[in-house]
Amino acid sequence: MNRIALRGDLLDFSTDPGFGPPDAVPGVRWRPDHWLLVDEHGRIAGVLDASVSEPDASYRRIDQRGRLILPGFIDTHVHSPQLDVIASYGTELLDWLETYTFPAERRHADPQVARAGAERFCDALLAHGTTAAVVFPTVHKQSCEALFTSANARGMRLIAGKCLMDRHVPEWLADTVESAERDSLELIERWHGKDRLAYAMTVRFAPTSSEAQMDMAGRLLCEVPGLYMQTHVAENRAEVAWVRELFPQARSYLDVYHRHGLLNERAVLAHGIWLDDEDRALLAASGAQIAHSPTSNLFLGSGLIGWQALEAAGAKVTMATDVGGGTSLSMLRTLAEAYKVQALQGVRLSAWKALHSATAGAADALGLGHEIGRLEPGLMADLCVWDWARAEIDANRLALARGLHEKLFAWMTLADERHLAAAYVAGTARFERTTIAP
Ligand code: GUN
Ligand code: ZN
Repeated sequence: MNRIALRGDLLDFSTDPGFGPPDAVPGVRWRPDHWLLVDEHGRIAGVLDASVSEPDASYRRIDQRGRLILPGFIDTHVHSPQLDVIASYGTELLDWLETYTFPAERRHADPQVARAGAERFCDALLAHGTTAAVVFPTVHKQSCEALFTSANARGMRLIAGKCLMDRHVPEWLADTVESAERDSLELIERWHGKDRLAYAMTVRFAPTSSEAQMDMAGRLLCEVPGLYMQTHVAENRAEVAWVRELFPQARSYLDVYHRHGLLNERAVLAHGIWLDDEDRALLAASGAQIAHSPTSNLFLGSGLIGWQALEAAGAKVTMATDVGGGTSLSMLRTLAEAYKVQALQGVRLSAWKALHSATAGAADALGLGHEIGRLEPGLMADLCVWDWARAEIDANRLALARGLHEKLFAWMTLADERHLAAAYVAGTARFERTTIAP
């Protein structure tokens, strides 16, 4: 590839801005009208203030003046086959799984469906400004295979693993301990550590794995360096009660995973709404993170996450869409809902904190801060170019903002994927808006 230089308003975060008032936070790096230099290997080579210098002739210039340039978003929990059930009416988690989700996932047993679905999903992520993700495909090996193939073809940083689920699911969607281990090992062999991909042991959730299956997952986590773990925890009250019945010996839902050796600094647990102090301390001690999924938590009526309490205990929280429980692949819409989830609890989520959690915060939590999440020399050029406003009323609102935070907060709340002008993965444009959105 050629060297490129992008000109625009650069925003990223050196450290976590925290929950403080927006005018007094650390870590915000705002560099209006700068050049971002990308080398021939797709890495960020430098940043230049456009008012004082310009790129040398070896860079192809791409002038995005007046647009915002952010690191690509990182979605830490999303289900690739569930684009097909997004916006399904009238159910809570357990009923939603039975009624809509399991039948939709069944279709991915067909390799052609799996392949077409994976292509559609990866293109959709990029078209929403998400360049890296932690993803659940289905129980089927070919679904995971298709997902890695599609992500790799686009050069994406993707973490995924075939779903483990050997009980309390329809027999047409169940694996066994043996088949799960065999399929996981084959997929690990093919994909873990290949280019920008990593494998995650993917325990769907405690109710759908036998103790033997969770033990197997815990053993592989110990045996294979760098594996991630992903699952769900404490999302819905009926689910929590079911786990209590199934695992009477465990102190809590989270403790089930702990007992099977599934919690470590590369563990990503979606939701984490119904937790107590001991759970929060366990998350902090293990280094595991909670993938907060506000559109899903509101849509499925699951509850309101105690984000501040988690962070006060030292636990990590990142941001996720959880499509198809979640209602949009847009991390901007997700952040806007996250603000409302906190507002309902009397907590104010600044645009700084929100945007950090979906970029540098997620990168750090995944142990990938050396590769993605910031606009810094040496990191991969995974980044997105955004319009500030697409409609006159929004432009008018932004023009009335008093100060940068107010403007950015209004943008975060009003914008969505239609504001995305381009998405770059490792310096290559993988999405460019060509049509005028309404
Ligand atoms: N718990 C177990 N499976 C799922 C799923 O597919 N989506 C959500 N939101 N929660 C789950
Ligand atoms: Zn989920």
